[in-house]
Amino acid sequence: MEITEQLALILEKAVSEANQAESVKEIEAIRVSYLGKKGEITSVLKGMKDVSPQERPIIGKKANEVRDELTAVLQRKKARLEKEALDLKLESETIDVTLPGRQVSKGQSHVLTQIMEEIEDLFLGMGYQIIEGSEVESDYYNFERVNLPQNHPARDMQDTFYITSDVLLRTHTSPIQARTLENHDFSKGPLKMISPGKVYRRDTDDATHSHQFHQIEGMVIDENITMADLKGTLELLARKMFGEDREIRLRPSYFPFTEPSVEVDVSCFKCGGQGCNVCKKTGWIEILGAGMTHPNVLEMSGVDSSKYGGFAFGLGPDRIAMLKYGVDDIRNFYLNDQRFLKQFKRKG
Ligand code: DAH
Repeated sequence: MEITEQLALILEKAVSEANQAESVKEIEAIRVSYLGKKGEITSVLKGMKDVSPQERPIIGKKANEVRDELTAVLQRKKARLEKEALDLKLESETIDVTLPGRQVSKGQSHVLTQIMEEIEDLFLGMGYQIIEGSEVESDYYNFERVNLPQNHPARDMQDTFYITSDVLLRTHTSPIQARTLENHDFSKGPLKMISPGKVYRRDTDDATHSHQFHQIEGMVIDENITMADLKGTLELLARKMFGEDREIRLRPSYFPFTEPSVEVDVSCFKCGGQGCNVCKKTGWIEILGAGMTHPNVLEMSGVDSSKYGGFAFGLGPDRIAMLKYGVDDIRNFYLNDQRFLKQFKRKG
């Protein structure tokens, strides 16, 4: 068979294959099998060396025509397939611009942070400083310096996690009393501070106990501070947290770092004092411990207890939040369940 005829047949076959091709990939395969280095047309052209010099230009021209035509056919088909693929993609990926956008959920501070910041605001307004302490504390500051020497029976109520025999996770914020007192310069004015933070105890967790919870310590030391100052301050606190109509009452109690010591109750915010399930039918709810600072605590910090004295208090924001919002399990504060936390949107 003549080479030109051979080329015409090859072209016919290649065009028919191209017509049947269904993907760009197939088109590429066809191009390689005909026009590639080892392709059919290429190998025909390689046979040119055996052709007589007269025929050579004719065959050469035909070969170029075949190559150009096949290239054009393949390009057209490839463009069509590409367009079809794009159309299909666009159709399947239609964007509905009328769909409402996805809401980015707005965060908020944790309910305990909210309570603590509310209390901080109150005391900042009365000229107190906010002192941050460390959760890892020494046995010495956590116990000894707040008048709880080694083997003191009141240590039993505050077992904790020990890092070494002298270093522990603090059981209360009271060590900040000693740390602040020893650094305070009374010639510059009275000491008025609160210290919020996390504390730890070796407790079996249940609805009202957690091995980790929060406290806010408060302390005021100056000349001529009386228990009336303590009562007035706590009354303000109770009213800020539980409403303007609240009353407080002080009951005798015991803490090693205060003398006398009191337990402070607030009149029930739910029933107003009639007796209900929140106040266990007593009309009063216990909210914190307080007292007049023990002279030993002052003296151990180098403060002259014959000249200076004052009061201290310790309250639990977890308990206040539970009372205020009717939360029946303290563990809810530590589970990071959004369904729980989202209920406490800060007002304003
Ligand atoms: N530190 C006490 C506790 O964790 C709470 C407390 C009671 C602190 C009376 C005080 C206070 O400053 O005066 O049980």
